Amino acid sequence: MSRSAHPAGPRYADVLPEGHYTAPPADLNALDARVWSRTVDRDAEGVVTVGGIGVKQLAEEFGTPAYFLDEDDFRARCRAWRDAFGPDADVFYAGKAFLSRAIVRWLHEEGLNLDVCSGGELATALDAGMPAERIALHGNNKSTEEITRAVEAGVGRIVLDSFQEIVRVAHIAERLGKRQRVQIRVTVGVEAHTHEFIATAHEDQKFGLPLAGGQAAEAVRRALKLDGLELIGIHSHIGSQIFDTSGFEVAAHRVVQLLAEVRDEHGIELPEIDLGGGLGIAYTPDDDPREPREIAAALRDIVTRECAASGLAVPRISVEPGRAIVGPTAFTLYEVGTVKELPGLRTYVSVDGGMSDNIRTALYDADYSVALASRTSTAEPMLTRVVGKHCESGDIVVRDAFLPADVAPGDLLAVPATGAYCRSMASNYNHALRPPVVAVTDGEARVIVRRETEEDLLRLDVG
Ligand SMILES: Cc1ncc(COP(=O)(O)O)c(C=O)c1O
Repeated sequence: MSRSAHPAGPRYADVLPEGHYTAPPADLNALDARVWSRTVDRDAEGVVTVGGIGVKQLAEEFGTPAYFLDEDDFRARCRAWRDAFGPDADVFYAGKAFLSRAIVRWLHEEGLNLDVCSGGELATALDAGMPAERIALHGNNKSTEEITRAVEAGVGRIVLDSFQEIVRVAHIAERLGKRQRVQIRVTVGVEAHTHEFIATAHEDQKFGLPLAGGQAAEAVRRALKLDGLELIGIHSHIGSQIFDTSGFEVAAHRVVQLLAEVRDEHGIELPEIDLGGGLGIAYTPDDDPREPREIAAALRDIVTRECAASGLAVPRISVEPGRAIVGPTAFTLYEVGTVKELPGLRTYVSVDGGMSDNIRTALYDADYSVALASRTSTAEPMLTRVVGKHCESGDIVVRDAFLPADVAPGDLLAVPATGAYCRSMASNYNHALRPPVVAVTDGEARVIVRRETEEDLLRLDVG
């Protein structure tokens, strides 16, 4: 919609940057199913509920800010991904999006595998009982300790990211008397984000070994020579928040070309390819993500077609969705502290969290939605900027948001789709205490990651 169509008139027209403008929704109290988790609703009093529990009760019991995670939705999304890909493929949940012991247990119960990218994530996975053979270890600079621990535990695969690491993992495995299953991460010259993909020069990044120029082929050569390694496949991850499959198409084409070159040079067909994660979710109603079954069918078709063209048997496919599983399942609940109207500009609504619990707006200019959650309102829509309480003017939670004009201190605001890369990227900036994650299911709420306390902060500060 054009700016001039804004019902609030020209007052805001000069301050709204291109790309952040949306018209107020027809009904500010409605909860758009595209951005809220499955069990979110409003009760008869107009209070937002999740798993049948109202946010006023949740705020009283657990405080704000807090993340509320819809366990049924999380489990349903795991099943949707697993069923879409079927028994001939593997779904590895990307733990970097959000990981806790409860999450690991749910993944295990729902039949998903787990991708970890640090010693801490590996420790969480093992502690919560994920079988080691269902874990993949990632990272562009894994430490000797991390590799040793992974090999000792018997992880299903380590994704190799450099020439040094090929040798390092092989030596560690040999020393431990093991043969480690590995994949080689390649860069295919494609980087995809949201709706677009760019097919130039994206070898210039820290992850992976470029296909162009032959480094990836050389990595295969070196890995195949080492007794400590069992090379099972090639890995490619092309970006994040991707809504169409055209970038994957190019990636699959180039990865399959490498498999054909490996067959021609070494006489072996590598049995697996991993196409990474990066599938998009709806942060606002403008986003239009694909369903897992559409993605699975498209990826299977692309790989099957490319393999047929090269005369290769179709390898086992794996994917690593993080955001697409956990992102939509949680919202962050905040309490409004101040409302500051800047006449002729906009109204700033300050909440009790901010960039310490959601860095994505400041870091990537990410868009979010927001709703008045503790009540409904019939007041006119008002253009606001929802901001945090940190000492940083970039501390923005939702850049341009329409809220009822009577929004006031004490109201609760809920920001949906904060399950991924919010708690996992949370910080203690300004000595903020990182919020808890509360799992809600069927009328029951339980803390799965507790709120930090001042004692936690002071315990690390040894004076
Ligand atoms: C190798 C790899 N796999 C999977 C993911 C998960 O991406 P997303 O959460 O966007 O699905 C990432 C994200 O950075 C990644 O680097």
